[in-house]
Order: sequence, then structure tokens, then C-alpha cells
Amino acid sequence: MPVCQNTPRLRQKGGASVKAACLEGLRCIGVASEPRSTYTAAGWELWLGVDLKRVKLARRVAWIALAIILGVLAAALYFWEITLWFAREFDAAFKLVGLVIGPFLAVLGFFWGLVDKAELKDLTEALGRAREEAESERRLVDTKQAELDAKVEQIKSLEHNLATIVDARQLWKLRNNAPFSEYRGWKYDPRGAKIVTIALFKGGVAKTHLAANFAAYISETQRKRVLLIDLDYQGSLSTMMLMAAGVDPVGSHVDSLFDENADLALLSEKRIHLASRGPGTALSGGQGLARAWIVPADYTLTQVESRLLIDRVIHHRQALDERYRLAHLLLHPHVRREYEIILIDTPPRMTVGTVNALVASHFYVIPAILDRVSSEAVKPFLTQVETLKRDLEVDVRLAGIVGTMTRQLPLSDTEKRYRDQIIRTAMEVLGTDESCMIEQNLPRKTQVTDQDDLGYFLRDSEGPLRDRFYDAIFNELWKRIMCASDSC
Ligand SMILES: Nc1ncnc2c1ncn2[C@@H]1O[C@H](COP(=O)(O)OP(=O)(O)OP(=O)(O)O)[C@@H](O)[C@H]1O
Ligand SMILES: [Mg+2]
Repeated sequence: MPVCQNTPRLRQKGGASVKAACLEGLRCIGVASEPRSTYTAAGWELWLGVDLKRVKLARRVAWIALAIILGVLAAALYFWEITLWFAREFDAAFKLVGLVIGPFLAVLGFFWGLVDKAELKDLTEALGRAREEAESERRLVDTKQAELDAKVEQIKSLEHNLATIVDARQLWKLRNNAPFSEYRGWKYDPRGAKIVTIALFKGGVAKTHLAANFAAYISETQRKRVLLIDLDYQGSLSTMMLMAAGVDPVGSHVDSLFDENADLALLSEKRIHLASRGPGTALSGGQGLARAWIVPADYTLTQVESRLLIDRVIHHRQALDERYRLAHLLLHPHVRREYEIILIDTPPRMTVGTVNALVASHFYVIPAILDRVSSEAVKPFLTQVETLKRDLEVDVRLAGIVGTMTRQLPLSDTEKRYRDQIIRTAMEVLGTDESCMIEQNLPRKTQVTDQDDLGYFLRDSEGPLRDRFYDAIFNELWKRIMCASDSC
């Protein structure tokens, strides 16, 4: 027992510090079961305020004196004759012992016992109080320990989140998903715009080119309203569309679409009408992009995405899950009824914007160059999308894979081989027997890179490009998207 037996500690702390001394060694709670002498000694020390060693010495002397007296008495009884002779010879000494010292020692013993008992009682009470306080201190320590454990858990979770951000392959997994209540109802509502994301985590495969020209097809050929959302901070789609429509650059409008309160009014304010005043007029009689709008982006989008990520890591509770911000805006029936298709262009990597796009979309389209590098990018991309769908319980389907930038319209043998490889990969990852490849591929055309207008509105020596290339691709995509049962 460290403290309550530890008399030097008691001496050091003084009589009032039994409690404090006990608190320093919680094991002293068990002191009630200690030998009585322990209390007595401690009690004397407390009571007299003297060194326990001296108390012990005094007691030892008293016990020895008592033993001597008893021994003398016993001897006296045994040698009675001699005792009587001594009594006669030393009458005064016998009277002193019998009438003074004896009663004095008896009285001293009696009071000694009383004091001892009272002291023991006080000490036991003091120890009882100390024990209670030690108990409450222990509970406090337990509470603090629990708080500490919670903090450690929080730090571990933050570290995990940060690692996920750095990894970025499973960016959507930072927390359990919390879709807003209308999410599925709005998404499965057959009325209104279909939302389509164009994506592949490989740069330069013509994602932006496909998005821009598909929008031109919807506006010009299908005569339907289309909204383009640029989620690539590079802003290529914005530049391309604004240039084609003869509109000056306007900066990033897409940032505010990630606000929790973004609604139709905000979208109407942020979209730019592409009603063609630019080069497209030559071919389309000014109607090319008349039914097309764009919400443009530039590099400030990355700041918004970083802020959303940090918010997600630090503030665990938010009114609207950051992964559902775009879905909350674009799937709203008021927004969907405004357009036939909403097309989203994405950067070549998993960003907060890409996650938002896939969560909001009904379909996604993959453009892939029919070469080794692009075809190898298809499998990890499809796998990631499938994982995201499973983790976030999102229903987004592949509308088709488009072979892009082929050497010519008829595929070379090498291109055919990569095309077949992509088809097999998609079937394997998606677990389907159907080919998801769009029949027609998109050849590389110099006009597309040389001129400011969209490929869809350009022509070469053999006539308009759209007649020979784009329309076949977009007709099939359109059919797959608008008749959902035909989609992959
Ligand atoms: N059919 C085509 N013929 C000629 N050039 C094309 C064709 N399609 C796309 N390009 C050109 O290829 C380049 C890359 O296209 P695009 O920007 O659409 O790719 P991306 O996949 O969006 O790239 P990123 O991942 O960087 O966004 C662009 O300069 C574009 O003009
Ligand atoms: Mg692009």
C-alpha cells in the first residue's frame, strides 16, 4: 500500500493531507483492511503532529516498562516469603508502586485506549471521504479517457480521409453517402431531361470534342434544347463553345452550381445562351446552337472543389452531401423540364465534379482512341465507376463507347484489335453479353483542329462532316439514351 502506509508521505503532507496523499495512490482505498496498528500509528502522528519514529519509541518503552512490572509482580508472587521480607524492609517503595505508579499506569492505559479509538474513528472517516473523492476523481479520469479515445478516433478518421483525398481513386468514399430525400424519385422520373456525363480518366481522347458536337447535334438536328455543363477546370469546352457562338469569355459560372441552395433561378442566371452568331451560321443558317446553353468553367473551379473536399473532411455534417450538389440542382423537375438532354464534360480524373456528375447522371459515354494507351484506360475507369455505383448506390448506365480519332473511317487492323479488346473489357467489367461500342467511329480530321467552329458544322471536299461521321454516332447515342431499354 503506497501512501496510507507511507508515513513519511503523511508527515510531509501534514495531518490535513490524508486525502491528498491517498489520491496520489488510489490503491490506498483498500486501507480499511490494513492492520489496526497502521491507523494507530498514523493517527498518533496526525494527532500529535510528531515524528512517527518517536511515537513508536515511546510506545516500545511503555510496553517494556509494563513487561518489567508484570515480571516483578510474577516473581513477587512466586517468591512470596522473600516478597513479604522485602515488603517489610522496603515498605515505602511497595506503597509507591501499588498506590501511585500502578493506578497511574492503569489510568494512562485507559486514556491511551480512548484516544487511540477516537483517532482511529476520525482517520477512518477521513479515509472514507478520501475514498469517495478518489472514486469521483477516477470517474473524471474515465470520462477524460473516453474523450481522449474519441479524439484519437477522430484523428484516425481525418487521416484516413486525407489519405483518400491524396489517393483520389476512391474520392467518393470519405463518408457514408447521404442522398437528399427526393434523389431517387427525381432521378427515376421518366419526364424531363436525361443527364449524360462524358468521361474517361485519360486526357486527349476527345471527351470535350464529343460533348460539344453532341450538343450541336441535339440543337441542330434533333431541334431539342440542350444544356452543357463544363466540369473541367481547363475550360476547353467553354472556350470551344463560346468561340463557336461568337461569345466573349465570361469566367467560371459553374462554381456556384455547387452551392447548397442552387436552383433553377441561379442556373438560368449562370447559363450562357449559345444562339449562334459565330462561324456556325455559315452552315446552319444561324440555328446551329440556338437551342444550346452552357455553364462555363475555368481554373477557379478547382478552388471550389478543394473547398468542398475540405468541408467534407472537417465538417462531418452538412445539410446537403457534397457529392449530391449537382444532382440536387440538375435532377430537380423544374430544371429537367427545361431541356431534352443535359451533357456534362469532365476532366480526365476523379474530381469532386466528376463524382457529382456521375451521381447526377442517368448515362455516361466513354470516348476512347483505339490504341493501346486508351484501351488500357477503359478497364480501370469502368471498374471505378462500378465501385462508385455500388458504394453510393447510384444508378448510372453506360450509353456507349465511341472510338475516336481513328486514322480513317474504315478501321485499320490494329484499331480493330483494340476495339475488340475494349468491347471484351466492357463486357467483362459490366457483366453483359451486349457490345457497348457505338458502331460508327470518329476519324481524325484536320479541319477540326484548324478551324474555330465545331466539327459538326464543318465540311471537307466531300461535303459536311456531320453527314459522314457525326450523325451516325449521335443517332445511335440518342437512341440509346432516349430509349433506355436499348442502352447498355
Ligand atoms: N475528330 C477529331 N479530329 C481532329 N482533332 C480532334 C478530333 N477530336 C478531337 N480532336 C482534337 O484533339 C484534342 C483533344 O481533344 P479533346 O480536348 O476533346 O480531348 P479531351 O479528352 O477532352 O482532353 P482532356 O482530357 O484534356 O479534357 C483537341 O485539340 C481536339 O481539337
Ligand atoms: Mg476535355
